[in-house]
Amino acid sequence: MKVRKAVFPAAGFGTRFLPITKAIPKEMLPIVDKPLIQYSIEEARDSGIEQIIIVTSRGKTAIEDYFDRDPELEAFLLEKGKEELEKRVKQLSELAEYVYVRQKIAQGLGDAIMHSEKVVCDEPFAVFLSDDIIDSRVPVIRQLMDVYGQFGGSVLAVERVPRSKTSMYGVIKGEKVAPGVYRVEDLVEKPKEKPPSNLAIMGRYILTPTIFEALKTTTPGRGGEVQLTDAIRNLLATEEVYACQFEGTRYDAGDKLGFIKANMAFSMKRKEFRGELRRFLKKLP
Ligand code: UTP
Repeated sequence: MKVRKAVFPAAGFGTRFLPITKAIPKEMLPIVDKPLIQYSIEEARDSGIEQIIIVTSRGKTAIEDYFDRDPELEAFLLEKGKEELEKRVKQLSELAEYVYVRQKIAQGLGDAIMHSEKVVCDEPFAVFLSDDIIDSRVPVIRQLMDVYGQFGGSVLAVERVPRSKTSMYGVIKGEKVAPGVYRVEDLVEKPKEKPPSNLAIMGRYILTPTIFEALKTTTPGRGGEVQLTDAIRNLLATEEVYACQFEGTRYDAGDKLGFIKANMAFSMKRKEFRGELRRFLKKLP
């Protein structure tokens, strides 16, 4: 079955980015000239996703406004002869069909995904954590879709991380079934000791709709929240789950240093900034 829908949980507080996230949603922080979330929405569009389901909360209206039409601004730009800019602004509303779902209380990622059940219904869907910006030749969700097409079952994006960092991630134990593809045997959220591997789960998933039942029956873990990793672990009892070691460079833009690195890397990709930026960086003490 084709993956047509993608869920973007965006209802968190973004505490790692306080104080700015008190007023500006983390998803709207700019990487060069586009908000964080636009990078993953474009990745979804480039992978053939038709419907974008964004889970929002209070204080996040900037996201809805950004992906809406703005006839007054468009008319102003046209009047000033800025057709190219007008086209770019208008296109934002046409990247996909948008649906917004509200998570009233921030009860964790698992709960945010639960809120999309009525819109996703009974089909496989993608999940994007837009903090993870991945610069890749083939969009990462497309890479996961290819694994889903070949093996079926849910598919998690994984990346090798240094052993010292495994305690920051969900970590899988898997059996290699094809180059870069693992059949997941077990997974542990933020292992304190003895991680089962150094293959860490990153912010891209293809999930089968069975996940909704798994989320409902999973006992809340850390902080009283239902952890997505725990629900996926419960899925293993009834269906296969795979992991795809994707090709691409990932930036954790939900963290201040990762965000700065992402801004630098994406600025360096732009011809108009590259030379001057390199000279500027060399001069810094
Ligand atoms: P994070 O763990 O990154 O939380 O959530 P956060 O609130 O965004 O940021 P920090 O860690 O406090 O700095 C992963 C994803 O799940 C969403 C977030 O918006 C983010 O995209 N989320 C998290 C929700 O939608 N609802 C929640 O209750 C929690």
